[in-house]
Amino acid sequence: MSEVPPEFKKVALVGTGAMGQGIAQISAQSGSQVYLFDHVSGAADKAKEAIKAQWSRLLQKSKITEEQFNLYSARLITTESLSELSAVELVIEAITEELSAKQALFSKLETAVGAECVLVSNTSSLSIAAIGARLKNPSRFAGYHFFNPVPLMKVVEVIKGIKTTPKTCERLITYAAQMGHTPVSASDTPGFIVNHAGRGYITEALRICTESICDFETIDRVLKDQLGFKLGPFELMDLTALDVSHRVMESIYHQYYQEDRYRPAYITAQRLAAGVLGKKVGAGFYNYENNIQQTSAEPSPPAIDKLPPVWVSARAARRASLLQMLKDFGASIETAAAPSNDALCVVAPLGLDVTTVAILERLDPSRTIGIDLLIPDESTKRRVIATNPATRDDMREIAHALFARDGKSVSVIRDSGGFITQRVIATIVNIACDICQQSICTPEDLNAAVTLGLGYPAGPLQLGDQLGPNNILETLLNLQSVYGDQRYRPSPWLRRRGALGISLMQKEH
Ligand SMILES: NC(=O)c1ccc[n+]([C@@H]2O[C@H](COP(=O)([O-])OP(=O)(O)OC[C@H]3O[C@@H](n4cnc5c(N)ncnc54)[C@H](O)[C@@H]3O)[C@@H](O)[C@H]2O)c1
Repeated sequence: MSEVPPEFKKVALVGTGAMGQGIAQISAQSGSQVYLFDHVSGAADKAKEAIKAQWSRLLQKSKITEEQFNLYSARLITTESLSELSAVELVIEAITEELSAKQALFSKLETAVGAECVLVSNTSSLSIAAIGARLKNPSRFAGYHFFNPVPLMKVVEVIKGIKTTPKTCERLITYAAQMGHTPVSASDTPGFIVNHAGRGYITEALRICTESICDFETIDRVLKDQLGFKLGPFELMDLTALDVSHRVMESIYHQYYQEDRYRPAYITAQRLAAGVLGKKVGAGFYNYENNIQQTSAEPSPPAIDKLPPVWVSARAARRASLLQMLKDFGASIETAAAPSNDALCVVAPLGLDVTTVAILERLDPSRTIGIDLLIPDESTKRRVIATNPATRDDMREIAHALFARDGKSVSVIRDSGGFITQRVIATIVNIACDICQQSICTPEDLNAAVTLGLGYPAGPLQLGDQLGPNNILETLLNLQSVYGDQRYRPSPWLRRRGALGISLMQKEH
């Protein structure tokens, strides 16, 4: 609970659905008197009861005292008319996501409230400039984007429209902190920070799926075990449901005028059309029985009689640790510049596919496999190896068994420039870098918004720094050459910092 008086003593929530209730709850907890208004008669009263029920649960768990329960409850006032909002200092709009409805509401609000009252929209996808276009005084209007469920998702994007005054944003930033949330400042651009930065994870996973490199469950397993994501991209889509997530993908792609980095995939369009939306309907990428996700068993490593000698490319990523790993597994390692006629040839490229490396290094492709070592082996719970279209079955099985010798999980995938992890992480970091290049927000706010708003294991720029900006740059340049796709072109922010060998957090003065 805030000790100082709240920045806005009287706050109105217009639209008292899921978001309105959550925002009203934390607003009242911060010390504000909160007016609840909804155009459906009786909805504000129901919202008040629902918010009080939340506080009752907190009281039962001893997270708040009875005194606080009574204090907070007394701060909620329901109203059936906008004209009763004349004394409020801040109006937070959380009505349906429709531009014309929001514009009409703000025109009415402008005449109902005082000249100093700040007006904000909780829109997740509409432009602040467009919502405020009909206002006589748009300088006091901004975006204030909370996430669901509001009391638990402790971040809010403060969005400055072209005409919003800095003072308006400063006040909103102060108030966000008083409500116990981390404010991040964004310019008025499609997806703001969080929904923009979140484009990489899912769209790249869908591309990997579209190319039949492996099944979607493998992609989920790899990204959770190698990068520490709590949910795989397909689990995440099942949770948010395709009627939300596919539409967000399309909306941001089109708002950025078909920018290749955000290109959606036909897979989700078809599933949306077929009603296979996700967990809420019991069927998504996964099936759900009694609300429990059903997964298939992973193939076990094959038993093999005899290991051939192993040769490792001189250009392999993390070559010394790869050689040590193979020694620990009991492999006999060939040290000559070229492999013998029996050897299993192991390559570990960044961004290139196994086929390209086998050809460039004049290796026998039927005996060549790749391993993804962008991330140090000791930091991951899974190894990923890739074949190429010419790899012999026995070599594939030997490689699978060999890299599973210490009991670590191994996924074997088809050839892919950048395997799975490299492609996904490079895409995430690249999009984050371009958000900074476009000055949508600061590097610090970007990392905070993504960790708090998307629950990533670290901010994308921190991840890029940990893995090496030069490695991410190399991965993207090679992905671009393998696929010939502009999607992988490095952002100038990354290109320059990667080439200079400096942190991705480094701003230019
Ligand atoms: N649900 C989310 O995960 C989420 C997250 C971030 C932002 N948002 C945004 O928050 C806003 C609200 O979303 P929600 O999920 O709470 O919606 P919701 O459907 O749960 O609630 C919307 C409420 O607004 C009321 N309403 C509609 N038109 C109105 C009007 N003209 N005047 C007054 N009340 C009106 C409805 O009766 C309803 O009670 C949307 O702009 C949405 O994009 C939603």
